[in-house]
Amino acid sequence: MADDKAQLHLNNLSDPIELPIHKGTAGPDVIDVRGLVQAGYFTYDPGFVSTAACESKITYIDGEKGILLHRGYPIGQLAADSDYLETCYLLLNGELPNKEQKDEFVNTVKNHTMVNEQISDFFTGFRRDAHPMAIMCGVVGALSAFYHDSLDITLERHREISAFRLIAKMPTLAAMCYKYSIGQPFVYPKNDLDFAENFLHMMFSTPCADTPISPVVAKAMDRIFILHADHEQNASTSTVRLAGSTGANPFACIAAGIAALWGPAHGGANEAVLDMLDEIGDISRIPEYIEKAKDKSDPFLLMGFGHRVYKNFDPRATVMRESCHEVLKELGITDPQLELAMKLEEIALKDPYFIEKKLFPNVDFYSGIILKAIGIPTSMFTVIFALARTAGWISHWQEMISNSYKIGRPRQLYTGYEARDFTPLDKRD
Ligand code: CMC
Repeated sequence: MADDKAQLHLNNLSDPIELPIHKGTAGPDVIDVRGLVQAGYFTYDPGFVSTAACESKITYIDGEKGILLHRGYPIGQLAADSDYLETCYLLLNGELPNKEQKDEFVNTVKNHTMVNEQISDFFTGFRRDAHPMAIMCGVVGALSAFYHDSLDITLERHREISAFRLIAKMPTLAAMCYKYSIGQPFVYPKNDLDFAENFLHMMFSTPCADTPISPVVAKAMDRIFILHADHEQNASTSTVRLAGSTGANPFACIAAGIAALWGPAHGGANEAVLDMLDEIGDISRIPEYIEKAKDKSDPFLLMGFGHRVYKNFDPRATVMRESCHEVLKELGITDPQLELAMKLEEIALKDPYFIEKKLFPNVDFYSGIILKAIGIPTSMFTVIFALARTAGWISHWQEMISNSYKIGRPRQLYTGYEARDFTPLDKRD
């Protein structure tokens, strides 16, 4: 990091405080404020809108230009020419694999797809109508109770095995959540299928019959996985890093990430898109809902629109939109809800409010529509996001643990009472 210096002049200090400025390979320079604490100051940045919490080499986003790079490779190129497991390799190892490395990586993931048979007992403890994200938080955290053999996070080999286990077992657990919810037996993974096909097989086949998997659907599924694989220091990844900074085991950290992803402002948005379409109900009601979204006194937002970082367009949405139209055409689907979504997209993209505020459809707007088209129930949407994002979570966790790191411990601007004496109960008003 090449250092420059910023000077901070404060009225009560005779000399300015000098703060180093670090330059990354791309993106804004960062002012290193660590020295401020000696001068008795904290910085204040709720929502971390201008705070870099770590140094990372994995993913770069330029929100203004709509750029998303994984290890330097544009997301559009990865979505067009790579596949999910290759993207996982890239995120974890920093380079694209050669043929031999790729075969070895894919085979190792395949060798870890089954979960310990006792894990299926956990499912029976949940209600059949439990939200699958609730089950995922529980069962992924519970994996740490099964794999003691590889939980020494100081050993690189242990961290590597945990990464393989997590990437390989997430589709199995996700499909188990679905099967449990509909009362069907769990379907074991089939290792002659590729990653996306295997997931669809575990979701839609039964022990009595295999459901044929359309190559178009498998490709769209794989693309959804690639496009959700990582996204820099988002809320769930930051949660994984924060949990990991305490030395917690990787399964517990990923369970924390799953919990953070669940919210509708983050991974829950793709499910919220479909709920919103349900609420709108009919094309004729779109103008009414567009007005509600603009009305500041109305809490309604157009779900699947807007992004904290992308303020022009979401490059993942561009690819996802293409896939979405491809899948709808290929499957010949005529679903009024999907037609409603396409009309909403068209109207919102022309509306001055959305244009002015740079609110464009994000990746979740389209991924929700594709998932619905291929028959995945709405409640599973965020689970699929979690499955895909596991690659990013575990790569960030690995990056942090294999370098020097500090426990994450934010400070605060305290606005509560100053010290005061305890009042006994009989003396209180
Ligand atoms: N519908 C209507 N108005 C909106 C929307 C929306 N979806 N999103 C933002 N706005 C308005 C917002 O009210 C604000 O207006 P004003 O300037 O008058 O106060 C302005 O646009 C700027 O919004 P913001 O709340 O400052 O933006 P943010 O960066 O804090 O929030 C967001 C980003 C994604 C949380 C928000 O746009 C949102 O809640 N969108 C809907 C949920 C969604 O689709 N989330 C998925 C994000 S992509 C998946 C992921 O990465 O997890």
